[in-house]
Amino acid sequence: MLQGKKIVLGITGSIAAYKSCLIIRQLIKKGAEVQVVITPAGKEFITPITLSALTHKPVISEFFSQRDGTWNSHVDIGLWADAMLIAPATASTIGKMAHGVADNMLITTYLSMKAPVFVAPAMDLDMYAHPSTQSNLRTLQSYGNHIIEPGTGFLASKLEGKGRMEEPENIVAQLEAFFAQAEAEQSASQSMAGRKVLITAGPTYEKIDPVRFIGNYSSGKMGLAIAEECARRGAEVELVCGPVSATIPQHANIHRTDVESAQQMYEACMALYPSADAGILSAAVADFTPVTVADQKIKRTGDDMVICLKPNPDIAKSLGAIKTDRQVLVGFALETNDEESNAQSKLQKKNFDFIVLNSLRDKGAGFRTDTNKITIITPDAMQTYPLKSKAEVAVDIIDQLQSILK
Ligand code: PMT
Repeated sequence: MLQGKKIVLGITGSIAAYKSCLIIRQLIKKGAEVQVVITPAGKEFITPITLSALTHKPVISEFFSQRDGTWNSHVDIGLWADAMLIAPATASTIGKMAHGVADNMLITTYLSMKAPVFVAPAMDLDMYAHPSTQSNLRTLQSYGNHIIEPGTGFLASKLEGKGRMEEPENIVAQLEAFFAQAEAEQSASQSMAGRKVLITAGPTYEKIDPVRFIGNYSSGKMGLAIAEECARRGAEVELVCGPVSATIPQHANIHRTDVESAQQMYEACMALYPSADAGILSAAVADFTPVTVADQKIKRTGDDMVICLKPNPDIAKSLGAIKTDRQVLVGFALETNDEESNAQSKLQKKNFDFIVLNSLRDKGAGFRTDTNKITIITPDAMQTYPLKSKAEVAVDIIDQLQSILK
């Protein structure tokens, strides 16, 4: 896991500084490249010559190289690293990191660091337990740094062995675990690479005249969250989008086709679905459209006004009819009553592999909200989920999709 990883090792003025040699040896044995940055106090405990002999690199300590005045760029080091490990980290360095006191090369490097930072505190127990140290550590944690808790000697219930930095092998093991998890997440996140998914989102507008339309309350948020989740997992997304107010995610994998009416959405979907592995139909499509569209604004006459409607194409049913054995089709059901039986009937009629039921009777579910509460119904099972953000709901839907993708 550490093979080829570039690690900046920050060393500060603690008696535990000698243990940094053991850390370097283990990191290098595991294939990592190590660049030491040491504080002036650190050099009182261990010599740069020892460290550079172990790392095969000059040790960085000052802003300028003493010999030729070359500028040591903390920004470049921050960009170079895959991780920064500060071990040992004294109370003083932890305090400076928490408050941005950039008075040495180690702190400026830390402040410029783009990679994850690990901090292994090393100090006397009373210093460690002091509220200011604890508060600084919490601050560092809140900035996203990883604190490598000192060994058991630091726990209040076990005061023996106090003052000890975590053992080098455990520190290196924590770095390895971090990279292993990051790599697992990275490969999981690309689990839909090579797949193509058609997604419909938003409402449709059915024109009455140049200024009026029949529409609905769909914001597109649910469909856009699904598109984003598919793209995040590496799928190519064909997003067919009605007129939405929500912001469309900018992602290289998301190709967007804007439509207004159900007829336009139907045409786009019929063209795109044959080359897709899956279709997810979250759009709220108008089932009817005016028989005629007035070419001028309809004027008030004083009489009742009757608009004659004709049925729109059922996009879902049409895709269900052309679906091949290798394809999956996922529908939505937005219900106000008899939710389960209505959804079951749509699942069958439209030839969906599963349907996502949401009910307007659930608070925080359905149109325009940032949350949704869904039940996933397959031909032989049903699972209800708690109220979640639409991003989290998208994760549940795509997990279900991936479990049946052929
Ligand atoms: O966009 P948001 O504000 O985030 O809201 C999300 C949502 C409530 C719109 C979404 O979660 C949702 O429920 N979408 C489907 C709404 C709907 O129209 O359901 P329906 O029960 O009428 O349609 C059943 C299925 O057939 C749906 O997959 C629908 O896209 C599809 N359909 C319907 C009619 C039609 N003519 N063609 C279709 O493809």
